[in-house]
This record gives sequence, C-alpha cells and structure tokens, in this order.
Amino acid sequence: MAPIDAPWAPVDTEVDYAEVERRHPAFRAFGARLGGTPLVEAPGPAGGAAVLAKCEWHNPEGSIKDRVAYALIGAALHEHGQRPVEELRVLEYSGGNLSRALSGLCQGLGIAARFVLSSASPRSLLDTLEERGARFDLVDKDLGFIEVISTALAIAEKEPDWTLLYQHRNSANPAFHARTTGAEIVDALAARPGGRTPDAWVASIGTGGTLIGVLRALRARFPGVRAVGVCPSELPYGSPQPPNGLPKYGGSGGFGHGLKQPFVAAHDAEIEHRNVSYPRCLDLMAEYRDLTGVRIGSSAAANWAVAREIAASLPPTSTVLTVFPDAGTPEEWERIG
Ligand SMILES: Cc1ncc(COP(=O)(O)O)c(C=O)c1O
Repeated sequence: MAPIDAPWAPVDTEVDYAEVERRHPAFRAFGARLGGTPLVEAPGPAGGAAVLAKCEWHNPEGSIKDRVAYALIGAALHEHGQRPVEELRVLEYSGGNLSRALSGLCQGLGIAARFVLSSASPRSLLDTLEERGARFDLVDKDLGFIEVISTALAIAEKEPDWTLLYQHRNSANPAFHARTTGAEIVDALAARPGGRTPDAWVASIGTGGTLIGVLRALRARFPGVRAVGVCPSELPYGSPQPPNGLPKYGGSGGFGHGLKQPFVAAHDAEIEHRNVSYPRCLDLMAEYRDLTGVRIGSSAAANWAVAREIAASLPPTSTVLTVFPDAGTPEEWERIG
C-alpha cells in the first residue's frame, strides 16, 4: 500500500477552537498572536498585473505552519476532551516549520512532542527542538519525504500512545487555512480602494493545505479565480520519478512514484502546476532582498517567481495573489551571503 494511503482515518471533526482556548491558556496565548499577517504589494512585471503577497513570517514562530500547528493541536485537544493534558503525546513528521511551531506550542501546553524529519533538516531547527525538549528521528534525505511520512506512520502503528497529527490527511489543516488565511485575504482585498477581484492564486505545495484551504475561501467570494500550485523542479507534483536527495526549496515538493498529496489530488482538474529550481530560488531570495530590503524564504521566492510570470500575462488592472510562507533559514541566508 502506498504510505500516503495508509489506513489512518482522516480527522474530519468540526473543532470548536474557542472552547479549546477556554480550557488551555497556553493555546489561547498562541492563538492571540496568530494570523492577521499583512498582504503587501510585491515587485511585479512592468506593465503587468499587481502581485499581492501574504507575509507569513509575522506569525509567532515565524511561518505559515504556525496556523497549522494551532489547527492540528486544537483538533487533538478537542478529541482528547477532559482527560489530563499531559496524557496527550503528539507525533508528527515535518519539513521543518511545522515541527518548530508544534514544539513551541507543545512546550507551553506541557505536552510531549516527537518528530520525524529529513536528515537534510537545518542544524538551527534541530537545536531549537532540542532546547524545547522535543524528541526527533532523522530519515536519510535520499529516501525522500515519503519515507519521512512512512516512518511516522510506522511509529504511530507500533506505539499507539503517540497521537499522529497527520498534516496531509487532517482536514483541520485546509479548513483552518480557509477560515483564517483565506478569510483574511478576502477581507484585505475588500479593504483596498475600490475593492479588488483576484485573477489568480499562487501557492507552493507541501501538503497543499494552504493552496486548497485558501482557494476554498477565495472561490466562495470570487468563483472565477485561477489556482496555481508550485513545486520544486527537482521533484514536481505527482512526478513518476523516484524520490531523490537533491536540495529543494523549503517545505514543498512531490512525493515521487506518481503519488499525489490528497488535498490537491481531490482538485486535480482545477489546478495548474508550475515548477521552480532551488538554485533559482536562492537567486530570487537575493533579488527580492536587494529590491525591497525584505528577506523572504525559498518557497516564498518560488511563489514570487510564478506569481510574476502569471502577472506578466495579465493587464495592469488584474491582481495575482500569493503567499510568502517564511523568511528563510539562517543556513540559506549564509549560503546567499
Ligand atoms: C516554507 C514552507 N513553504 C511552503 C509550505 C507548504 O505548505 P502546505 O503544507 O500548506 O502546502 C511549507 C510547509 O511546510 C513550508 O514550510
């Protein structure tokens, strides 16, 4: 059986986050600092559409995955009910940012946290996890992210006292993006002089939670908006090639072997796909910093590249929306210089 189709029931419960916040002050404190991030105009092509980007490093732990950490822990605490919080032990796999966010949230709540990560994870992340008392296992990067997921699934099966959050299957992930990230974008567009109707929504695919969740909120208001998913050229969405250990831009990418992220596969007919290589992302990070004085991460650079391409094919009255998931790792900025 393909690992992503493992027999774990997708978590599909409606979560009352306000109720969970009332029970857990540390969860409430994290929630109070979450979201409300700025939608800014990014440099676009001369004579083309405007590019608007939601800047997610303003979240408490510095990335868009802070929203997902809150959503998944909220769902787990909702399921856990009135039992002592210390009895909840959280297991998740991560490309990096989610484990950072979860480790902070779990430390505040007094919940044990355990992660499965790629051996390519930056030292700065592993240091943070260690400082916060989170346990982690590293999987050989050459086996690809699918093996990171499979390892977490195997642990969850063998050791059922660990609760797997399962970001690729947990509907709290896209649902929370629809309700916060997407809703905030809709509000920000309405607040612009004369209001704005977006023509396209561009987002990098890790789980696809951002792409699909925000799309849900946008299409409810603007049914005609195009959706464009972005992946690393080194392993595109749905690629039939086997996984590889090539460096890729952050938090994103296909699984290999023709496998597809379930949230995205459910909308295959509605999504266009573009790919960007890691060396190009590093160049674009430097270009964006030099143009604006602002540091964006590698997946943000990929989104910016594709948003600009699409904006170049549209008139100046059009709007292309995208997201800047984080501001990059210290290791990437050291490389860029
Ligand atoms: C830096 C970065 N960009 C993009 C993504 C993709 O987000 P999603 O899982 O919502 O597709 C992630 C996810 O971990 C990420 O860390």
